[in-house]
Amino acid sequence: MKLASCTLYITSLLWLNLTHAKIGYFWHITDLHYDPFHNSPEFKGCRHGHNHKEHSHRNGRHRLETCDASWSLIQSAAAFMAERHPDTLEFVLWTGDILSSSMEHASEELKLEAVRNVTDVLSRTFSSQFVFPALGHNDPPPSRRLVDMWMQWLPTEALDTFETGGYYTIEQSHSKLRIVVLNSNLWAGGASRSDAHAHSHARAQWKWLEGVLDKTRKQHEMVYLVAHAGPGMEERPNAGSASAAGGGELSPLANSRILHTIRQYSDVIAGQFYGHRHADTFRIIYNEGRPVSWAFLAPSLTPRGAGSVSNPGLRLYKFDSNTGKVLDYTQYYLDISHTRGETHWSIEYNLTQYYGLREVTAASLDALADRIRNHHDRGVFAKYLAALRARHATDTDCDSACVHVHFCAITRADYHDFRACVSNPASALASRAPHPHSAAILLYAILVLIST
Ligand SMILES: *[C@@H]1O[C@H](CO)[C@@H](O)[C@H](O)[C@H]1NC(C)=O
Ligand SMILES: *[C@@H]1O[C@H](CO)[C@@H](O)[C@H](O)[C@H]1NC(C)=O
Ligand SMILES: [Zn+2]
Repeated sequence: MKLASCTLYITSLLWLNLTHAKIGYFWHITDLHYDPFHNSPEFKGCRHGHNHKEHSHRNGRHRLETCDASWSLIQSAAAFMAERHPDTLEFVLWTGDILSSSMEHASEELKLEAVRNVTDVLSRTFSSQFVFPALGHNDPPPSRRLVDMWMQWLPTEALDTFETGGYYTIEQSHSKLRIVVLNSNLWAGGASRSDAHAHSHARAQWKWLEGVLDKTRKQHEMVYLVAHAGPGMEERPNAGSASAAGGGELSPLANSRILHTIRQYSDVIAGQFYGHRHADTFRIIYNEGRPVSWAFLAPSLTPRGAGSVSNPGLRLYKFDSNTGKVLDYTQYYLDISHTRGETHWSIEYNLTQYYGLREVTAASLDALADRIRNHHDRGVFAKYLAALRARHATDTDCDSACVHVHFCAITRADYHDFRACVSNPASALASRAPHPHSAAILLYAILVLIST
């Protein structure tokens, strides 16, 4: 008995030594949208010179506009993350839109100063971890000065590709998990695509990504795909136009191509992490009807969205740091309607417990999507809708057509499929019959058996 436990102890020591701690954590923070001109001590609303279109007009309850993150909100988030610091925090994913869109016309100098200030807060908060930044459409383009700011976090090889294209990969010596940070701006629709220079960077990023994924597979590693904007459509039923989110969406061509790439390499993709939508949601990618990959979209730190308001959110993932397998996450939020100057971040929910998931896989999330759509059990949908804006009580009325649009956004990352799904609920059900081919083969086999 004693000997056995001693042996066990020694083997586990050896094992720990060889493989590093197994359970790890990482933060995913996104869409901070720091607004240096917002000085109000309240997070809920502010008054300043800029003319925002999105006041909360919907129910007329809010008198003040919702502004982007003030400096005090950013400090409060940093203080909370420092305090909630798990021992085995491995890294931080920071998926862009650092600056408020109200800074769009500010000088390059002021923008970089604001980015520098946020960078300084994060490096003080995570003094012994690496922060992996991805660029959003409101961020300054890659430059020598950004490289200088972020060289504390990124190895030389990463800085090389970052400086020219804004993308990079992080290979970790102690684990089989590789992090791939993409610059989704290069693949976004709009003006930049007519620019030949931008076009060649976009092509270079595709080539580079496929090369990295090939290498990952050959080395029997796994990857996280990380970017500001990921594939798929806006989930808000009335947000028909792509411009509703203020730009930054993947172009239709880029969206199809990234989906193709994800299908092709789904065996090595351990997870996808995006921001951009200021919403807590997820996407499932299918290959011939089979769920093969998932993407989690984290809610924003800023309370201000495109035509929506949400509570500020911070997300802490729990994962197997050897393999990258995601085990759970805890979503934290700050209830801005009950905050009077003081800040109280709380747990909003834990993924597996909240939705009753046994594990986090494309198949389990596919089953969750079915439960979200289920008309007979509105409970799961109500949970999904409550989480969407981190418990901010907007967008709470959603009829069955609206539920269906949410379901389409989750399960139809292809733009064309999404539109087909939205316009025809019945065909959406039919086209998702999971294995048309295997059913036909089975029938054929039975016929062959019967006839012999
Ligand atoms: C950055 O921080 C410095 C020092 O606290 C402050 O003086 C400056 O106004 C800040 N600038 C911006 C754009 O946040
Ligand atoms: C969620 O998980 C965290 C960390 O494991 C735990 O401390 C907390 O009590 C859980 N919270 C809820 C609401 O289940
Ligand atoms: Zn944003």
